[in-house]
Amino acid sequence: MPVLEIDDLSVSFSGRSGKHIALKSVSFSVNKGEIVAIVGESGSGKSVTSLTAMGLLANSAAIERGSIHFHSRHGQRHDLLNMKEDDRRQLRGRDMAMIFQEPMTSLNPVLKVGDQLTEALRDHQLCDAATADKKARELLRKVRIADVDRVMKSYPASLSGGMRQRVMIAQALVCEP
Ligand SMILES: Nc1ncnc2c1ncn2[C@@H]1O[C@H](COP(=O)(O)OP(=O)(O)O)[C@@H](O)[C@H]1O
Ligand SMILES: [Mg+2]
Repeated sequence: MPVLEIDDLSVSFSGRSGKHIALKSVSFSVNKGEIVAIVGESGSGKSVTSLTAMGLLANSAAIERGSIHFHSRHGQRHDLLNMKEDDRRQLRGRDMAMIFQEPMTSLNPVLKVGDQLTEALRDHQLCDAATADKKARELLRKVRIADVDRVMKSYPASLSGGMRQRVMIAQALVCEP
C-alpha cells in the first residue's frame, strides 16, 4: 500500500537570472513500512523533492508539472498539490514530518527545547500538556539524550550540534507521523 506517490514532478525557481529547473520529472513511491533513500550529488534535488512533498517550498519556486498523493493515517488519499493550505497544515507534523538538515536555522532560538518538542502536539491538539511533556521526554531519551531535564529547559544555543540534530529528530517524531 503506497503512503507517498510522487509522479512526474518538475519544480523550477525564478530569480534575476531567469527560471531554472530544479526537479525534472521525478517519480517514485513509498509504501507503508518501506524506507526509501534518495541518493545524489549536492544540488541534485533531494531537499527540493522533500520540501515540495512537505509543502514548504520557497516563494520563488513553482511546481511546473506532476502530482503528489499522500495517504494519511486514516487511509484517506490526499492530492497534496491541490489542497487548501489549512488542510495541508493539518497533515504536516501530524501525518508527515521532515527532519531538517540545519538545526541552527530550523530550531527556534527563543523557545526552550521542551516547548518546541510539544508544539506540534499542542497545535494538533493531540493530547493534554502533561502527556505532551511525558512524550517529549520519552523521545529525548529515545534519541539518547542523557540529561533530559536540563535539555527540556534549555535553549538550542546551549546545546551541542549533535544534540540539536537529535532534538530535531525527536521533534519530527513527536506526533508519530
Ligand atoms: N530557494 C532556492 N532558490 C533557488 N534555487 C534553489 C533553491 N533551493 C534549491 N535550489 C536549487 O535547486 C537545485 C536542487 O537543490 P537541492 O534540492 O537543495 O539539492 P540537494 O538537496 O540534492 O543537495 C539546486 O540547483 C539548487 O541550487
Ligand atoms: Mg539537500
